[in-house]
Amino acid sequence: MKKEEDRPVAESILKPISRRTLLQGASAATVVGMIGNSALAQTGKSEKPAPAASAPADKAKTFPDKFLWGCATAGHQVEGNNTSSDLWLIEHLPGSVFKEPSGDACDHYHLYPQDISMLADLGFNTYRFSLEWARIEPEEGFFSNAELEHYRRMLATCHEHHLTTLLTYSHFSMPRWFAYKGGWQNPAAPDLYARFCEKATKHLGDLVGYASTFNEPDVPQLLNWISLAGMSDLVEGLKGSLIKVRQQLNAPEFASFFIGDQMKIREGLLAAHHKGRAAMKSVRSDMPVGFNLAMSADQPAPEDSHLAEKRADVYGPWLEAAKECDYLGVQTYSRSIVGKKDLPPPKGAEVTQVGWEFYPECVEEVVRYASKEAGVPLMVTENGIATTDDRRRVEYVQRALAGLKRAIDDGVDVRGYVAWSLLDNFEWMSGFEPKFGIVAVDRATQRRTIKPSAAVLGNIARTNSL
Ligand code: BGC
Repeated sequence: MKKEEDRPVAESILKPISRRTLLQGASAATVVGMIGNSALAQTGKSEKPAPAASAPADKAKTFPDKFLWGCATAGHQVEGNNTSSDLWLIEHLPGSVFKEPSGDACDHYHLYPQDISMLADLGFNTYRFSLEWARIEPEEGFFSNAELEHYRRMLATCHEHHLTTLLTYSHFSMPRWFAYKGGWQNPAAPDLYARFCEKATKHLGDLVGYASTFNEPDVPQLLNWISLAGMSDLVEGLKGSLIKVRQQLNAPEFASFFIGDQMKIREGLLAAHHKGRAAMKSVRSDMPVGFNLAMSADQPAPEDSHLAEKRADVYGPWLEAAKECDYLGVQTYSRSIVGKKDLPPPKGAEVTQVGWEFYPECVEEVVRYASKEAGVPLMVTENGIATTDDRRRVEYVQRALAGLKRAIDDGVDVRGYVAWSLLDNFEWMSGFEPKFGIVAVDRATQRRTIKPSAAVLGNIARTNSL
């Protein structure tokens, strides 16, 4: 048998390149995925990643045993052709708030075997991805076995590669028919969602490591507080677009995750979380269930800070809900200096492609805060940076993880770190321009190109050490 380090990386999809070459920081250009070539279809099982090199572990740099290291994606952002969803509909309306449609995205719907194999070969032990409810229940009451089987195959592929699976049941998008009925504002939404959760868990639950009812259900509230460059009109813009979308569709009740009445959406999401979680547990009582909260490292402005108010408004009800969960996923990208609202990044601060301040210490601050408030085990289920300069990503990740390690050393119970994102993907209203991926995607050919940051992070994952 070949030695582990000489085994080709993601051998089914990449030009043969040895693990050693990759770990030595092969230039991104040399590590090009051959996605799209059917001759290179996914084959066989991968071996369990070898333990770290034989040097004695440096305790100061080593993460706890069984620490989960992963990357995340979300269905609508990577799968492509999510045609039964509300977002597909909105993306194609004239004058849409979406800069461009999601189209084929990264064609992860078809290319997941290669993508998952690549993730494992990079050194990760965890994959977080989401179900597309719109595919599974494209018409109210019709559950597609074929689509459930698709997600079962994805989970099974993760198992073949020894990856722990973090499955998000709802990541912003929803079926069209559900949006036409008012989305989360519909009083029947929690029951409709619970029925989906039950069906999905019956079909998939035995392969799920950690389940999440919702990705960032606090975002509708968060939108009221943020004031990033070019985004100050966001909420007004979204309100306007709700009116417009309803007119364009001649659908007076239509509402989606992003556009609707924020308070009603929150009520619906909270009720749906409780019912969805109960439905999952009724099928598999031992399946860990939680959700993923969007949090920034909030700091008070020197004057007139409404920090406590913001926390109570945005996180309060969700941190309460988290207390009953098996774990809480926290997702953070930057800090916010909170005055009356969040203030723009300080003058002269480095900002990322999406206008967020370069502030990797957010991870440490957020886990310390969330752990104190929720008191349950945490997982960092998203963290990353939108940049075309991968060297900034490397620095960001290294500083973020150094901060995470400090918090863990101080006793904060964090079980894993999941980077956003595996692939350069569809960044919602901003389209494909922001580059969050550790792997680039050429959308014309669907070729994957591994960036140096992927090798750096993968090496940390493989060695469980900074
Ligand atoms: C979301 C992702 C998104 C990322 C970067 C999170 O809010 O869960 O879907 O792409 O942040 O904006």
